[in-house]
Amino acid sequence: MSGAPMTPGRPERTNGGTGDYAVAVAADPATTVKANGAPRFSALVVDDEVNFRESLSLHVARGGYETHEAASVAEARERLATRHFDVILLDLGLPDGDGIELLRDERLAAGSEFIVITGRASVDSAVQALREGALDYLTKPIDLPRLKAILATVSRTREFKAEVRDLRDELRQLGRFGRLVGRAPAMQSVYDLLARVAPTEAGVLLTGESGTGKELAAETIHLRSRRRPGPFLGVNCGAIAKSLFEGELFGHEKGSFTGADNRRRGYFEEAHGGTLFLDEVIEMPLEFQAKFLRVGGADVVPVDVRVIAATNRDPAEAVRTGLLREDLYYRLNVFPVHMPPLRERGEDIELLAHHFLEGINAREGTEKRWAAAALARLRAHRWPGNVRELKNVVERAAILADTTLGSELIPEVGGRAAAVTPPAGTSLHIRVGSTLEDAERRLILATLQSCGGDKKRAAETLGIGLKTLYNRLSVYRAAERLGSPAAGSPSPGPALDPGTTGRL
Ligand SMILES: Nc1ncnc2c1ncn2[C@@H]1O[C@H](COP(=O)(O)OP(=O)(O)OP(=O)(O)O)[C@@H](O)[C@H]1O
Ligand SMILES: [Mg+2]
Repeated sequence: MSGAPMTPGRPERTNGGTGDYAVAVAADPATTVKANGAPRFSALVVDDEVNFRESLSLHVARGGYETHEAASVAEARERLATRHFDVILLDLGLPDGDGIELLRDERLAAGSEFIVITGRASVDSAVQALREGALDYLTKPIDLPRLKAILATVSRTREFKAEVRDLRDELRQLGRFGRLVGRAPAMQSVYDLLARVAPTEAGVLLTGESGTGKELAAETIHLRSRRRPGPFLGVNCGAIAKSLFEGELFGHEKGSFTGADNRRRGYFEEAHGGTLFLDEVIEMPLEFQAKFLRVGGADVVPVDVRVIAATNRDPAEAVRTGLLREDLYYRLNVFPVHMPPLRERGEDIELLAHHFLEGINAREGTEKRWAAAALARLRAHRWPGNVRELKNVVERAAILADTTLGSELIPEVGGRAAAVTPPAGTSLHIRVGSTLEDAERRLILATLQSCGGDKKRAAETLGIGLKTLYNRLSVYRAAERLGSPAAGSPSPGPALDPGTTGRL
C-alpha cells in the first residue's frame, strides 16, 4: 500500500513519492543532534489525524530525530517490516485497529522504544501499554516540555544500550558471553543462537554432553531476556521421584497427601515472571509429560514462565524409544541449541584453565600460575567430562601446587577421566572413627570426581541408582550452603562441582 496522504507545504521532506517521508528541520539547539547536524536517531509517528501527526512529527524532528509517519496500523507495519526505528510514537486508537498490536508484535517491535499517545479519557489503555513495555505515554493535546523530556530519555536510553552492546561485543571477542567463557568458532555459533533467542519468549532445548555448560547457557539466556529481574529456577527432573513430580512442579494443597500439611507452591509458581530450567528433561515420567503439555493452556497454572529444557541424551532417540512424548519434544524443541564438547573447541581449554585459576586465585588470595607444560597437557587431554572435568582438574591442581601448576598434576594425555584422581592414586583414606555418613559422602564425591563429573557413570560405579546419587548430591549442596563442615569434599580435595542443578 502507499504511504499516508501528506498535506503539501510541509518543511523540506526528503524522499517523496513512496510515502516514506523524512522530515528535516532545524533542530532545537538544546536537543540532541550530532556534531555534523545529522539526526542520531529515527522516529516513526503513527497517528491517523493528519494535522496532529504532522505537528507532532515536526516537534520530534526538532528534537534531533529523523522522522517518518504512518496513518494506520497497516501502514506502520509496512514501515516496520522494512526498517528499524529507535522510537515509535503510537496513537492507540487507529482506524484499522489498536496501536498496541504493534507493541505486542515482538518481531516488529524488537529494539524500538514506544511512546503511546492517548486521549485524556483513555489513560487506562496507556497504563496497559506501559505494562506491555512502552517507555512512556503522552495525552492529547501534547504537553511539549513533556515530549521533549521523554525524547531526551529515549536518546539517553539508546546511547546506553549502544554502549552496552559495544561492551558486549568486546567481551565476546575476548571470549565471554553472559556467563559462558570460550572463543572457539563452535562457541561463537552458540553465542549467535543464544543472542537471537534470548530476547524472545521461545522455548529452548539445550543438548550436549554432560559438563558442556547447558545450565550456564540457560542462565545466560535468562540474563539476556526481559525476565532478568525475575527468578531463574533450575529443576533437575532426574532428581524428583516419579510420584512427587506433579506436586513438585505444580504445587499441592494442604492435606492432599499424608505429610502435606501446608499448601506448597510448585516450581512453576515459584518461577513466575522468570525462567524455569528443566534439566534432564527426558527423565520426566511419561505419564506426567501429557500433563506438562497442557500447562501451555495456562488454565492449569496461570503463571508467566519461560521454559528452557536440557538433556545430555539424544532427544530424537528418546522419542523413538518412547521415553519422550513426540508432542512434548516438538513443544520444547522450538529452538534447539547444541553445546559442543570441549574436545571440539581446543583453543578454549587454555582460556578456561586460566579463567578457572583466576577465579581460585581471587577466592583464595593466591597468585598461582600455570606451567607451560601443564597447559600443553591440558590441551592434549580428551575431556570426556568436558568443562566440568576441566574445572575440577584445575581446582585440584591448584590445591596441590604451591605456586606453579605443573604437568604432573594434569591427567595423562588421552587418559580417561579416571586419571583426574590425585597423584596419590585412586584410593580413599578413611580414618577409623569417621561416621558412616561421612565415609559415604567422601566415597560418592571422590567417585564422581574420578568419573569427571559424569553422574551416570559414577552411579554405575557406586552401584546406586542415578536418583539416589542426585539426592545425595543435593543434600551435600544444601549442607554446603549452610556452611556445615560435613559438606566438604574428600580431603585433600577441591570444592567439587558435582553438577547439581540450582535447588535440587
Ligand atoms: N563455557 C563455560 N565457561 C565457564 N564455565 C563453564 C562453561 N561451561 C561449563 N562451565 C562450568 O562447568 C560446570 C558444568 O557446567 P553445566 O552445569 O552448565 O553443564 P551441563 O551441560 O549442564 O552438565 P550436565 O549435563 O552434567 O548437567 C559448571 O561449573 C559450569 O560453571
Ligand atoms: Mg546441567
